Formats: sequence, structure tokens, C-alpha cells
Amino acid sequence: MKTILGIETSCDECSVAIIEDLEESFNLKVKALSTYSQVILHQPYGGVVPEIASRNHLESVNLLLDNVLTSASINARFLHDLHLDAIAVTNRPGLIGALLVGVSTAKALSYSLKIPLIAIHHLEAHICSLFVENEGFDPRVGNKSNLRELLPMLAAVISGGHSNLYILHKLPGEWDEDFLKHSCVGKSRDDAAGEAFDKTAKLLGFPYPGGKWIEKNAKGGNPKAYPFPRALKHPDTLDFSFSGIKTSFSLTLKKISEQNRLKDEIPNLCASLQEAIVDTLYSKIALAVSNYQCRSLALVGGVAANLRLRDRISELENKLGYGRIFFPKSAYCTDNAAMVAAAGAFRLRQGKILSLEQSLKLSAIANPSA
Ligand code: KG4
Ligand code: ZN
Repeated sequence: MKTILGIETSCDECSVAIIEDLEESFNLKVKALSTYSQVILHQPYGGVVPEIASRNHLESVNLLLDNVLTSASINARFLHDLHLDAIAVTNRPGLIGALLVGVSTAKALSYSLKIPLIAIHHLEAHICSLFVENEGFDPRVGNKSNLRELLPMLAAVISGGHSNLYILHKLPGEWDEDFLKHSCVGKSRDDAAGEAFDKTAKLLGFPYPGGKWIEKNAKGGNPKAYPFPRALKHPDTLDFSFSGIKTSFSLTLKKISEQNRLKDEIPNLCASLQEAIVDTLYSKIALAVSNYQCRSLALVGGVAANLRLRDRISELENKLGYGRIFFPKSAYCTDNAAMVAAAGAFRLRQGKILSLEQSLKLSAIANPSA
């Protein structure tokens, strides 16, 4: 068994976790997880303020390390006592100052405790959230030969910063360094899906991040009340565009407010907006499943918590060779360090640890090309 410490500070969640990897299984166990969401600090500004994010990570990260140490073991007084096999840290992409806090912390721990360091791409971590505390991948059903039946798998990473579609031909633990770059078949040309939720929620005066507020207020609303645009409909691209939805929403909102109908129309507006975003995601995901003859599908990232999206995507089950759709547990959809540690566990299986020299030189990368 291997024990991995994960650190995540790429945006506004500061998170530290310890996971256990039984190695023969694809179901990774969370031994401890402590997350501080900065949402309340950014709410007055309607979005993440990078300088506030990095300063707060600096204040939080050591406290979170103490928390996971306490909950991982009653006997351990120091991280050293946990006999860690690796430290995994998100070093790309994200807010540069925020990333730097996690990377510097991980480098210092790795150097002082003499534990190998593993640098993780944030979107690889989101894909690995599938394998965190997921009984669907326990040793009985999750052995390698069974799991190979799932390939090619379409992994849709739908978050506040990304709407990316990946076709995976290999299992975790077999991925090469650049697999995200090679396997990406579609992405957003402008705003991400989560960003579209957040920006429109802000126009309605909902707190940041707005996705869950739109979902909540959509209940009982008519999803057909307002025909917000579904962009890039043509089947020759798997890319998304969400900026038109935001513009159209703001014009509609202006009209309704002028007519003094806003209060009554909120459920209809939210349901129609949610439907437009979900519909756009559904169409391209369905097209990718058919173009690449995917045998299974995984939906990950913060927006994957949306139940309407989960329902629509579930309609694709009979189009998949293996007929399986996977969602991470809701707790692991938004940014957390358990998924980073999970990605680290799979990299460790491959022996992909950094040398001492590489560890000391490791930098944070705000916007890698992948
Ligand atoms: O993955 P994540 O925590 O952060 C990024 O890596 O971006 O995703 C955050 C995004 C936000 O845009 C938030 O509004 C959205 O996920 N989100 C939702 C829901 N819960 C979170 N969007 C729609 N419905 C939800 N229930
Ligand atoms: Zn994320």
C-alpha cells in the first residue's frame, strides 16, 4: 500500500489530503481531507481576486496540514510519522500566486522530509476524482482487464475554468506526460460552462459561485420559457462557445426588469439558462461519443455536480459500447486535494516522481498549452 499527500491551491480552494492506494485497485481511499473554500472572501467582488486568493492560501495551508495529520492518525505528531510515499501538488494551470503557495509548500515538505515530489496538472486531477472513494472501481469490478473494456472513454472536464473533452485510450497509471494535449478533441472557444453559470448568476445578484444558485432557482421553472442560444451547433466541431448565452441573458434580463417582471420570472430564467448550457454540453458530448465510438463516459469538474446535466448525460448510456457513465462523488467534483493525491498515486505507480534537482526547480505554470 502507498500513502500520498496531496496539495491543491490553484484557485480559491485551499485543500490538503492523504489518500491510500492499495495498488491492485482503482478505488482510492481518503484517509484525511481538509479544505478551506475562500468563497466568502471573494463574494463581495463577484469573482476570484487573485491577490486575496494567494494571501489566504498562505494563511491556510499549514493549518490544513495540521488538520489532516490529526485526522489521519491519532499517534502521528509529525508528517514524518505518516510514512508518506509521495507528495503530489497541482502546479498547473491556475492563478500563478495561488499555485505558488502550494508548490512552495510541497517543495519544502519534500526536501525536508525526503519524500518524492510529483507535479500534477489540475485537469488530470479532476479526471482522477472519478477514482476517489468510488466503489464502482473496487478490486472485484475494477481490475485492469475489466477496466480496459471501458476504453476508449470520453472524459468531459466541465468546470469554472474549462469545458474540455478528452478521449482516453489508456487507464490511469499508463498515461504519458502529455496525454491531455494529445487526447483533447474539444474545448470552449470563450467562456467555460461554469463561467457562464457564474456570470449570469452575478447578473441576477446571486452569490459567487453561481452554478448551484442557478440550479436551485431553476426548480419549478419552465426550461423553454426563454430560447437562449445554443452556439456552434454544426457537427464539424466539438468545440463549445458560451459567451453568446451570457449576452443574450443580459439583454433578456434588462427587458424583463424594465417591465417589472423580474421577481416572477427568476425560475423561468434560471431553468431556461440551465437548459441552454446543459443542451450545448449534451450535444457535443453526444457527438464525441459517436465520432470516437466511446465505450464509456465520465463527467467531472464542478459543473458535474449539476443534477439536470447528470440526467441529460445519463440518456447517452445506450449509445456507449460498455453502457457505463461515471460521475465522481459530489464531494470530489469541485476542487479538492484528494483528486490531486489520486493523480499522484497513479503517477507513482508509473514511477513518475521528480528527481531532487527537478523538485527544487519545479515552478508553477499559470497557463500551459495543454
Ligand atoms: O472544478 P471547480 O471547483 O473549479 C475549477 O476548476 O474551475 O468548478 C467550479 C465551477 C463554478 O463555475 C461553479 O459555479 C460550478 O463549478 N458549479 C456548478 C454547480 N456546482 C458548482 N454549476 C452548475 N450547477 C451546479 N450545481
Ligand atoms: Zn478545478
